[in-house]
Amino acid sequence: MLRSVRALAGSSVFVLAAACSAGGTASAPAPSPSTAPAPETRAEPTTADGIFTLAQAGRGAELFLSTCSECHDTADWTEPGFRGRWEDESVFQLWYYINDRMPYDDPWSLDRQQVTDVLTYILQLNDLPAGDVELGTDDDTIDDYWIRWSPAH
Ligand code: HEC
Repeated sequence: MLRSVRALAGSSVFVLAAACSAGGTASAPAPSPSTAPAPETRAEPTTADGIFTLAQAGRGAELFLSTCSECHDTADWTEPGFRGRWEDESVFQLWYYINDRMPYDDPWSLDRQQVTDVLTYILQLNDLPAGDVELGTDDDTIDDYWIRWSPAH
């Protein structure tokens, strides 16, 4: 354990040192927009940025089977009409649609975690990448992202 931690620390020192010396050899470090992001000008994060985890989408898939599949086919959420309706909307809007109206026969029966999880399952169905951090359930977090179905967008 300790050994691997030290090995890790050693390697990041090496990477740091390499980065420093690389910087030092550049006579006039030119600011590069792609490697020096300024927070105030950085593009808004989107659903293509790995905003949920596989475990979270897995919980969403279970909820889909128990609660949504009675009326929905997964293809409902990957077909062009659906994607076109929600593309460039905020994640917040889709979240609230589900929260306020679904299940159609029993709205407001899901808790925030369930709404969030099933939303991430919809993202996963569209081949959007998972990441290391779950999508949070608070309004501020949900409101942080735009819906983009294509990772290359
Ligand atoms: C009893 C049937 C029923 C159940 C159960 C149900 N839905 Fe729906 N869902 C509908 C209907 C009907 C519509 C279309 C509503 C409309 O157009 O007003 C819809 C629409 C939607 C839409 C919008 C689709 C679009 O094309 O824009 C989403 C997203 C959605 N449902 C998610 C869910 C999720 C997630 C669940 C499970 C938690 C769920 N629904 C459970 C009947 C259902």
